[in-house]
Amino acid sequence: MEKTVQMYEGKAKKVFATNDENLCIVSYKDDATANNGLKKGTILGKGVINNRVTNHLMKLVESKGVPTHFVEEINDRETVVKKVSIVPLEVIVRNIAAGSLAKRLGLEEGTKLNKTVLEYCYKDDALGDPMVNEYHILAMDYASKEELELIAKYAFMVNDILTDYLKEVNIELIDFKLEFGRLADGTIVLADEISPDTCRFWDSNTKEKLDKDRFRRDMGGVEDAYQEIMKRLLGE
Ligand code: TMP
Repeated sequence: MEKTVQMYEGKAKKVFATNDENLCIVSYKDDATANNGLKKGTILGKGVINNRVTNHLMKLVESKGVPTHFVEEINDRETVVKKVSIVPLEVIVRNIAAGSLAKRLGLEEGTKLNKTVLEYCYKDDALGDPMVNEYHILAMDYASKEELELIAKYAFMVNDILTDYLKEVNIELIDFKLEFGRLADGTIVLADEISPDTCRFWDSNTKEKLDKDRFRRDMGGVEDAYQEIMKRLLGE
């Protein structure tokens, strides 16, 4: 497998085409942004940790019936994935109120939600990723009804699988963001990443934040938190 041209450079990753038209190589960077790019920085070792944690969790959910883009980890920072066209939605699942939900509804962070909440945002940096509902998604043709049903089903499956798994390593899954893609034949698969950049992970006992909120909120101990997640999940 060889990289050919760079197809895309995002805030945290680069994506390269390969000599196989159905496969890409994702390369994870240490760069971090928050607040829609307003805050910029580096989290030393983040690229390696997010690559390895994502692949670990992708394999787990795949083994439990959620199709993913994962193919093969080729080194600490780089992974072969199936080529997809990304569904332009951020799919957010929430178990406990935090972040923008806590702010919007005036809830104290840490309040348990009586029911798991599913939210969608339209992926558009210029618009600040506005929240949309199913009606907007169908009206704007961001996804079909069938695709959206599958996306919701997979998102809840990922939540159940990760919540159970993380409990074993004393981590509470507060909320997370997923992205889905379409393979050439239209099959919907889980894509992007599952990492401390895209999930809120709290220590189950102390409620200490072990995720990117430490960077977003200038709390310090950012690298240590990422290392701790890697240690609890991969034992290193
Ligand atoms: P929020 O509370 O800021 O809306 O974030 C909800 C979850 O989604 C949280 O785990 C962080 C994640 N997230 C991303 O991965 N990317 C984003 O651009 C945003 C806004 C949130």
